Amino acid sequence: MTGVTARVPAKLNLQLAVGPPRADGYHDLVTVFHAVSLFDEVTVEPAGRDAVRVTGEGADRVPGDQDNLALRAVAALRAAVRDGRTGAAGVRVTVSKRIPVAAGLAGGSADAAGALVACNELWASGLSQQQLCEVGATVGSDVAFALLGGTAVGRGRGERLTPALAPATRYHWVLAFADGQLSTPEVYATLDRLRTQGGSGGMGRPGSGEGRGGPGPSETAQPHLDDALMAALRSGDAARVGRALSNDLQPAAVSLFPLLRKTLTAGLELGALGALVAGSGPTCVFLAANAERALELAVSLSGAGVCRSVARVMGPVPGAAVVSAS
Ligand code: C5P
Repeated sequence: MTGVTARVPAKLNLQLAVGPPRADGYHDLVTVFHAVSLFDEVTVEPAGRDAVRVTGEGADRVPGDQDNLALRAVAALRAAVRDGRTGAAGVRVTVSKRIPVAAGLAGGSADAAGALVACNELWASGLSQQQLCEVGATVGSDVAFALLGGTAVGRGRGERLTPALAPATRYHWVLAFADGQLSTPEVYATLDRLRTQGGSGGMGRPGSGEGRGGPGPSETAQPHLDDALMAALRSGDAARVGRALSNDLQPAAVSLFPLLRKTLTAGLELGALGALVAGSGPTCVFLAANAERALELAVSLSGAGVCRSVARVMGPVPGAAVVSAS
């Protein structure tokens, strides 16, 4: 085989409940992941040594060395393939990006997942999806979900996944990309600080995406799955889903990037069924009732001057998959 290409989706978090900081610096989460139709493509080819080239959206902000998550995934998979059936000494990875960098959409994890799926095929290593998820979890918290796709509940750091049993409803989302990035560790650290100060935003307005607020980190409760969101997903009723969206990281993201408040308010005033910050931000996410409403919302939002650009996406979509091999 001379080359394999995989396609990998971005993710949203329909709920992101964050517990207190753990001894290892991570936070225990309960999250509802949802894969959407914004894809990166990852191609792998045999080469003398590992190397990566990144093109497309935000490519200049992605590391081109061993820190690149796709290259780290290649190295992790090579170590996991015990019988050494990895063909040539190295792999040339080409990442074609449409998922913006540091936007809260897990673009880096998507690229790692794409590299895992593509190398598994290139090397005919035969690892199962479960085994790839285990390798992926060592590279990043969201890699396992990028492999699985669909809608799934994530626990632990987000890597322990249970697929959500939901009807085959297609949800129509509008993404508002911000003019800037947020650092995920900084957003988590800001949340811890806001909680210490007792200012985590209080009870969130339904459909406004803000987390449930609550006590400071010393007394921060363990996160829980939101029954109202799961019932809404089972019903397939987009309006109910819109009202149940929540993200504990949102007050932290908004405090670091105050323009997001304006973006979220604009989307709700323009008729979105719900609005929230994507993961650690700064992308804002809006749920629309159908494809037509999503188009109207996207046009109005891009005219409102509250974001860099917009995209319409659908979810859920499947996880990382090989799309061509030669
Ligand atoms: O695992 P990943 O590299 O995506 O995480 C990036 C950073 O986000 C971590 O280094 C940590 O600071 C923060 N994080 C966290 N708790 C999680 C996931 C991520 O604190 N469950």
